[in-house]
Amino acid sequence: MPLAPYLSRYWDAPDSWTLETYLEHDGYVGLRKALAAGPDEVISTVLDSGLRGRGGAGFPTGRKWGFIPQETAAEDQAGPGPEASAAAKPHYLVVNADESEPGTCKDMPLMLATPHVLIEGIVIAAYAIRASHAFIYLRGEVVPVLRRLQTAVAEAYAAGYLGRDILGSGVDLELIVHAGAGAYICGEETALLDSLEGRRGQPRLRPPFPAVAGLYACPTVVNNVESIASVPSILQHGPEWFRSMGSEKSPGFTLYSLSGHVARPGQYEAPLGITLRELLDLAGGIREGHTLKFWTPGGSSTPLLTDAQLDMPLDYEGCVAEGSMLGTKALQIFDDTTCVVRAVLRWSEFYAHESCGKCTPCREGTYWLVQIMRRLEDGTATADDLDRLLDISDNIFGRSFCALGDAAATPIISSIMLFRDEYLAHIPDGCPFDHRRSAIFATARPEEVAR
Ligand SMILES: Cc1cc2nc3c(=O)[nH]c(=O)nc-3n(C[C@H](O)[C@H](O)[C@H](O)COP(=O)(O)O)c2cc1C
Ligand code: SF4
Repeated sequence: MPLAPYLSRYWDAPDSWTLETYLEHDGYVGLRKALAAGPDEVISTVLDSGLRGRGGAGFPTGRKWGFIPQETAAEDQAGPGPEASAAAKPHYLVVNADESEPGTCKDMPLMLATPHVLIEGIVIAAYAIRASHAFIYLRGEVVPVLRRLQTAVAEAYAAGYLGRDILGSGVDLELIVHAGAGAYICGEETALLDSLEGRRGQPRLRPPFPAVAGLYACPTVVNNVESIASVPSILQHGPEWFRSMGSEKSPGFTLYSLSGHVARPGQYEAPLGITLRELLDLAGGIREGHTLKFWTPGGSSTPLLTDAQLDMPLDYEGCVAEGSMLGTKALQIFDDTTCVVRAVLRWSEFYAHESCGKCTPCREGTYWLVQIMRRLEDGTATADDLDRLLDISDNIFGRSFCALGDAAATPIISSIMLFRDEYLAHIPDGCPFDHRRSAIFATARPEEVAR
């Protein structure tokens, strides 16, 4: 299957992030078409394209927009007072640019290389859901992306793509770039909304869903960066064009992020349904002299796979059929030098650190998972510890308040299913990979050890 570079097609052009370069590459053409079509038609175009959310769950973007009450305050009989219906309240669009899942690294390069495609998508989406305020919630540590977004937003205001009376259409939109404080949980959409409102970022009870009571208790759409950035080309070329790529249920193109033990890691934009075998061919294969041991299809919270799934279509249905999930399409590749227990321990430490503490199964369970995984690595685990890991994971999975708990349990459960013998080999003497490394170092010359 060939690559399909649409989002990434001019990432290597000089000054790809400027408005000038964007306009040379059909920039803001989709917006002009959207403004001429009207909000309802924009929603039906995106619905017809079959675009599915790129933030992990794959929810259809057009359907999400359709949940927002569509009449405006002026049309609402109750008026704007306390009795106002959800429709009479302001609507908000929030772009989720938190991107903190281990392995996930597509939104940051996209915003760094082409911030205007996101801004154009935001103007189109906000117009469709009749919002006059939109926010980009960005992970705060990535200061270069923050600066680039702020500059691009200023350019868009100056050129009339944002602000009052956009392109003379009578449509207004204010866009605010908000830098979060770097918490994984603030990528969960309701925790993100609390954080944006100035509160501690913790997930909210649902219902009500954000479409009914989101930001400031008003109807809100929360979408991933890549989802929104995919919209301008759909408006420009039409839903059939988008559907000509991918499969019926997973149409279009997407960014696959290859990292780890591959010869040429990076972003590979391709139609949905490409296989890991094809992507590895494009990326130069596993690093020389080694073989594939395990991989994640969509970040650390998606069940692990092995070389048995090299020909699995990397789309929403293909991954589920093999007991995993497409997630964020963060393909982390691990070769035969990797200790699976150590890799899972690193993820477990991440989840324990990022657990927001709101619910007991996740707050307590992630702590205990780390203690046991560390015992396995340092050689103090007992034969019961494997069952204990599975028991704790079982008490977290499906019993936590939000999906972070499931994410923490998933790598443990799937790695024990696939590599039980390697776990057992850690009992009672600790990591066998460490012993092998020590043996190599014991016989190596000092200059080799230094390398
Ligand atoms: C712990 C946690 C972290 C998440 N982090 C992100 C994130 O960084 N970016 C993102 O788009 N979605 C993230 N999500 C998913 C969002 O809750 C939400 O589903 C997504 O932003 C919806 O956008 P989409 O419909 O365009 O995919 C996260 C979910 C959970 C449970
Ligand atoms: S599952 Fe974890 S992150 Fe989610 S609410 Fe519970 S403690 Fe917080």
